[in-house]
Amino acid sequence: MSTDIRKSSKKRKSEQADQDSETDQKSSSSRNSSSSTIPTEKPTPFPNASTTDKNSRTLPIIPENPYDHIRHCIVQNDGTHENLIRLIGLKSLFAKQLPKMPKDYIVRLVFDRRHKSLAVLSDDALHKGGDDEIIGGICYRPYEEMRFAEIAFCAVNGMHQVKGYGTKLMNLLKRHAVTEGIDYFITYADNYAIGYFKKQGFTKVITMPKSRYHGLIKDYDGANMMECYIHPSIDYTRIPEMVAAQRAFILQQIRTVSKSDKVVYPPLGNNWKPDDSATYASSSRGNEAAARAMAIPGILEAGWALQDLLASTKAAKDSDRKKNHLKSELLGIVRKTEDQQFTWPFREPVDTAEVKDYLEIIKDPIDLATIEKRIEKGDWYKSKQMLYTDLMRMVENCKMYNDQTSPYYECAVSLEKYLDSLFPELQ
Ligand code: COA
Repeated sequence: MSTDIRKSSKKRKSEQADQDSETDQKSSSSRNSSSSTIPTEKPTPFPNASTTDKNSRTLPIIPENPYDHIRHCIVQNDGTHENLIRLIGLKSLFAKQLPKMPKDYIVRLVFDRRHKSLAVLSDDALHKGGDDEIIGGICYRPYEEMRFAEIAFCAVNGMHQVKGYGTKLMNLLKRHAVTEGIDYFITYADNYAIGYFKKQGFTKVITMPKSRYHGLIKDYDGANMMECYIHPSIDYTRIPEMVAAQRAFILQQIRTVSKSDKVVYPPLGNNWKPDDSATYASSSRGNEAAARAMAIPGILEAGWALQDLLASTKAAKDSDRKKNHLKSELLGIVRKTEDQQFTWPFREPVDTAEVKDYLEIIKDPIDLATIEKRIEKGDWYKSKQMLYTDLMRMVENCKMYNDQTSPYYECAVSLEKYLDSLFPELQ
């Protein structure tokens, strides 16, 4: 996924792995030889249902799956004219949407017989059958023995971006992956793509045992390895319905024990004031709305607690908004700092296995990666001042450990000047 140069030793290993797994892949190609349109009738966790079954029991009606109307296919270089045209379309799409990726690398992978691509196709009669009928595609390489696949490229035509095709592509691919026995998708995402992959359920935490992918997939500098577990019994094209069905089930279960729809309280009069003066009076201004709501007859009996109500009041929302604002402001500052050339010594924690006496001299180490994690976590920094203190500690640690003539010391001096310009109000 990244344009950066691959680490050479890993490359050799992975080329060896390529050769080793070629036989497996060939047998896989023959099993999937038609490699064209995915059958639209997929096994789904929602069985096809009518209003009654053969025992005259009423069954819920399963709504039509909108994904079944999306023209899509799995394409592979099987030499057929139709697939070659589609692969040309995919190659052009990836080359255009991933301009930093070397073109020959794209061509090599897209046309490689061990790689497959899922393509979403246009319904427009003008484009049908041509290489410009591709709306979006994901090129991946399955490792059948190890039950995972590596996503190499993923892109949506510029004219169709931000319309949901990126999500649809991934959901279709996940649904298809189950039929290939794939448990995990792995990808290397550059900084720009991380957000998209996160939204598609990918995480930077890799849970797939390393033994399954070690030596098989290529490592990229400057990109983050991300993983997505594919649950075999989830139809990813029906997530909204699945959540709605679970919600309906939970509500139905609640109704069997809840009295809230059986006890009816009279309407509150115009001059109604909370009875429970103790609760009401003891509440701060910010909690007033929640406390008033708590005092409404029936709320307590229905199982609500002040905490539940507080979470949904304006005060809580305001505080969340403020926290989010501070978080993005602090993240912006740290990322801008990381981008400065002189911050290279501060980007990661000092390797104390290498610099053995570091902790004897520096009692409170800190670095930009740790600071970023703290900001991401949310509750660490309550103000800009607190961030400034940590950043300045980095400068002081560096000056304390290193000799004044060292390049590290020079970086600390430059960073200090930079921080002065970033936080003029704190000088
Ligand atoms: N960073 C953060 N979030 C992103 C994003 C990005 N680069 N691209 C999309 N998203 C978010 C969208 O906001 C949307 O969020 P929502 O569900 O909360 O609304 C969600 O991801 C899906 O958006 P969708 O409209 O389905 O995506 P898309 O059709 O625009 O396709 C890409 C997304 C990344 C495939 C498309 O933008 C693209 O082709 N980009 C160029 C190639 C590329 O960078 N590929 C990824 C690495 S190989």
